[in-house]
Amino acid sequence: MMLKVKNLKTIFKVKQKIIRAVDDVSFVVPKNRFIGLVGESGSGKSVTALSILNLLPNNGYIESGSIFWDGKNISSMNSKEIRDVRGADIALIFQNPLDSLNPVFTIGDQMIETIRLHSKVDKKQARDQTIALLKKVNIPDPDIRLHDYPHQFSMGMCQRIMIALTVSMKPRLLIADEPTASLDVTIQAQMLRLLEQLQHEYQMSILLISHDLGIIAQYCDYILVMYLGRIVEKGSPEDIFSKPLHPYTQALISAIPVPDPKKGKPEILLTGDMPGVANLPSGCRFHPRCLKSMPECSKSEPILKSNGRSEVACFLY
Ligand SMILES: Nc1ncnc2c1ncn2[C@@H]1O[C@H](COP(=O)(O)OP(=O)(O)OP(=O)(O)O)[C@@H](O)[C@H]1O
Ligand code: SF4
Ligand SMILES: [Mg+2]
Repeated sequence: MMLKVKNLKTIFKVKQKIIRAVDDVSFVVPKNRFIGLVGESGSGKSVTALSILNLLPNNGYIESGSIFWDGKNISSMNSKEIRDVRGADIALIFQNPLDSLNPVFTIGDQMIETIRLHSKVDKKQARDQTIALLKKVNIPDPDIRLHDYPHQFSMGMCQRIMIALTVSMKPRLLIADEPTASLDVTIQAQMLRLLEQLQHEYQMSILLISHDLGIIAQYCDYILVMYLGRIVEKGSPEDIFSKPLHPYTQALISAIPVPDPKKGKPEILLTGDMPGVANLPSGCRFHPRCLKSMPECSKSEPILKSNGRSEVACFLY
């Protein structure tokens, strides 16, 4: 087990109010696995990632819970210790590659520098590794393009360069927060295949965050479904797709466009908008939108229960 998040509760203080963005979330990321975290906008996916890496904004706090990395409790580390973990073991990639690439240095300089920071190699070896990595992420003529600056590449290329740069740190866990949301569908698929390939090749784990269950199911080997700060269902893509248990997961699946519209599928639509975590509904937080809601659902909150294969938090089971 590499990463273990246990009963994580993350809050924000806004004026006099407390916002419970992540509310009792537990999951593990084992070695060499591709885990997907899916949920609508505002469900707490990014806050979960930022909590793991101690990158919360000033008004955000981990109220309780723990985060273990290789058996060490990283939620109690000081900022220097966590910086070491962040650099060497866990890397985060964001949606916008320009947040990670420095505009004033050539991409070759940035990558060679990064590689030399993370392994004991000389300049020539670091340069060779840079070229190999750029080739791997499909940058044509890497030995020439190495001398170019980020703005001389297209957005899709910058995205791939950022991945190469991140992988050059040899992380053991890569947290990718909506890495492809701004890309067109073809490039999106290329990027995810690239991540999948690198995951195998470099024997790392990936935690992929997305609001798109279709994407998550295609690439991940385990899925966490999040709703309003809680994980409501966990399981393998097979379980989640062939037997989604939580009404929210069922609705997410019915919202995935089908390639062949004639084939059809049962339509379970999500009614209404997701309320914010600032105004949490009572009981099961999904009950105002749930088509199967029962009287007890507005009174108390269901917790995750295992059925031997997957886990679900819903009074129907
Ligand atoms: N700095 C902050 N101050 C107050 N509330 C915040 C802050 N950052 C996030 N939140 C709230 O925490 C909740 C979870 O936000 P988060 O960014 O994790 O959602 P998300 O699942 O990543 O959504 P998206 O798909 O849009 O990226 C939201 O209600 C958001 O408004
Ligand atoms: S607990 Fe009730 S409201 Fe919540 S998802 Fe299950 S049936 Fe729907
Ligand atoms: Mg987010």
